[in-house]
Amino acid sequence: MSGNKTVWQEENKLEQSLKEIKHKIIVMSGKGGVGKSTIATNLAVSLSKKGFKVGILDADIHGPSIPKLLGIENSKAYEKNGKITPININENLKVMSIGFMLPKTTSPVIWRGPLKLKLIRQFLQDVQWDKLDYLVIDLPPGTGDESISIAQLIKKIDGALIITTPQEVALLSVQKSINFAKRLNVSILGLIENMSGFNCPYCHKEINIFGKGKSEEVCKRMKIDFLGKIPIRCEIAKASDKGKPFVLDYKEFDFSKIFENIVEKIIQKTQIM
Ligand SMILES: Nc1ncnc2c1ncn2[C@@H]1O[C@H](COP(=O)(O)OP(=O)(O)OP(=O)(O)O)[C@@H](O)[C@H]1O
Ligand SMILES: [Mg+2]
Repeated sequence: MSGNKTVWQEENKLEQSLKEIKHKIIVMSGKGGVGKSTIATNLAVSLSKKGFKVGILDADIHGPSIPKLLGIENSKAYEKNGKITPININENLKVMSIGFMLPKTTSPVIWRGPLKLKLIRQFLQDVQWDKLDYLVIDLPPGTGDESISIAQLIKKIDGALIITTPQEVALLSVQKSINFAKRLNVSILGLIENMSGFNCPYCHKEINIFGKGKSEEVCKRMKIDFLGKIPIRCEIAKASDKGKPFVLDYKEFDFSKIFENIVEKIIQKTQIM
């Protein structure tokens, strides 16, 4: 009986917490290193600059990179009145990551499924998110424990943003991500092709380092929206290393304008959902 009561209380807490968050977006890819965390961070910052209340949940438990991308890797989360206080970047932007709970930035997390599920649940129900317009959830690559837990706990996710690079191997995994989302009843906001072409600073020619993308073709075939192509730029990599999202320091650059265009599409799509 008391066990049942605890389960019921936990479900209630989760429901109450999720009720305060209008739109939940997951950022995913079948392949690692394609720019999920970079895109999740810049999306969240851009939305917050437009006046939305935004939270970023770093659901990459083994490789949290959001703290580094925001230059807050030495921040620590703490508990207050039974709730975990996220890091408040400003009045519109809150962040939670396991990185804020580790003794050192280099400490590994050696956990299996059940512990990860418990932490993901805590991130959703015990973090003081308050009222949010958007919760942007950065997932680890693939379709493992964290992704399944998020989809099952949230139940109603507004949409998945699928990130790829133009490489064949990345595009193959896109199809897996799409099928994963469909299987878990998560609607798909669209696909973003990242690291798409490089403009040589010397000859000014466009070089397709990872080949010419077939993303648009895959989108057509799989009936999902293509949201845009973000080029490879030294400034994007530099911004990540500096811990300052590129939409802040490089807002006049072509890639930021392309990115803002994608953000507008995401806003439009989520507002009508
Ligand atoms: N368009 C781009 N141009 C240049 N560098 C980029 C671009 N997009 C991402 N990067 C860089 O590529 C690296 C990997 O990006 P990121 O960490 O966002 O990928 P990820 O998909 O989250 O990786 P993981 O699968 O490990 O979580 C970072 O150093 C980032 O700065
Ligand atoms: Mg990442």
